Amino acid sequence: MSLQFLKNGQIYDSGECVPGLNLLAHAQLIELDIGSQCGGHGKCGKDRVILASSDQKKVNPPTQIELHQLSAAELMQGYRLACQCFPNTSDLRISAQIPPKE
Ligand code: FES
Repeated sequence: MSLQFLKNGQIYDSGECVPGLNLLAHAQLIELDIGSQCGGHGKCGKDRVILASSDQKKVNPPTQIELHQLSAAELMQGYRLACQCFPNTSDLRISAQIPPKE
């Protein structure tokens, strides 16, 4: 299975889904820039992705860092920080939409 990213209407497939790798690392495997400015340390908040509700249960719940960086409305809409979000197992297909940057 694999992790797919949707950016500007285009699909980018990481080719794999690895539980020990966060979503940012999956994007980096295919050299897809999703906006990280802090290198995955949970400080910039620029690596936002949106998971469909069906995909939200395939990953870990939001971390303390995400609860601090994301608003309640964003969390309700499925926003996550890619560097804080890990697939639960390797047999998943997860789609993460990369919102346009302001
Ligand atoms: S990469 Fe900066 S918060 Fe995730």
